Amino acid sequence: MALKGVVLAGGSGSRLFPLTLVTNKHLLPVYDRPMIYYPLLTLREMGCEEVMVVVGGRSVGDILELLHDGSDIGLNLTYRFQRGALGIAHAIGLAREFAGTDPIAIVLGDNILRGELRPFADEFASGDAQAGAVLKGVPDPERFGVAEFDADGTLLNFEEKPEHPKSNLIPIGVYLFRPSVFEVIDTLEPSARGEFEITDLLNHYLRQRSLSHTVFEGGWEDAGTIESLLDAHRFAATFAGDQPIETGHDRAEVEAGP
Ligand code: G1P
Repeated sequence: MALKGVVLAGGSGSRLFPLTLVTNKHLLPVYDRPMIYYPLLTLREMGCEEVMVVVGGRSVGDILELLHDGSDIGLNLTYRFQRGALGIAHAIGLAREFAGTDPIAIVLGDNILRGELRPFADEFASGDAQAGAVLKGVPDPERFGVAEFDADGTLLNFEEKPEHPKSNLIPIGVYLFRPSVFEVIDTLEPSARGEFEITDLLNHYLRQRSLSHTVFEGGWEDAGTIESLLDAHRFAATFAGDQPIETGHDRAEVEAGP
């Protein structure tokens, strides 16, 4: 059973205005390449070959023009359009036909990662858990979903952007699901901010005792705000050289003609 990948690049990027007033957030540069390359390379590292990119908002045609069919970076890409900013769980629902009976790995389009996730992905693909989450300790957990543990260290619950975080461990934007997720998404209600929340989905599987998790020891940035975008540039500069990509010169020559 092949693990398929999904990049969620449907957000409007409003926290980055005016950078994203006339273009798509996922096309913005992060060090030497457009942002969307990073989640795609993360999925490739996790062992995915077939990847669906969920796009939305402005300039989505430019995303297709940039990535083509994905063969430049060793992936087989397909695309779906997300209408409206209805949240991460809604966007995952758009991958139902793409997933079929296969497990899927999701990476948020603005998440920049450096480190190994392949062992966790392989373990999930061959195991029984219905969902998987990747946690990381951060200094500012109140900006994210936050994990809550009991006295024995058992993961109990996730709380979305709590005022008083119960730990410093947050689920970063990497999730694994089996196709049961699509029926669960059908039962979700939108939150107060009008979105179908990923934390509601993860909490469902926690209650079913069917969520596996790992604590990621690698580096991670979420480039969704102007401060974190600046951090993401600096972070990417430390490793982008180890992950070479097509520069585009060959393509530009072909398009320019003889
Ligand atoms: C989203 C999720 C949050 C998660 C974060 C990781 O937040 O809702 O649970 O911790 O991504 O990047 P958002 O970036 O939509 O505010």
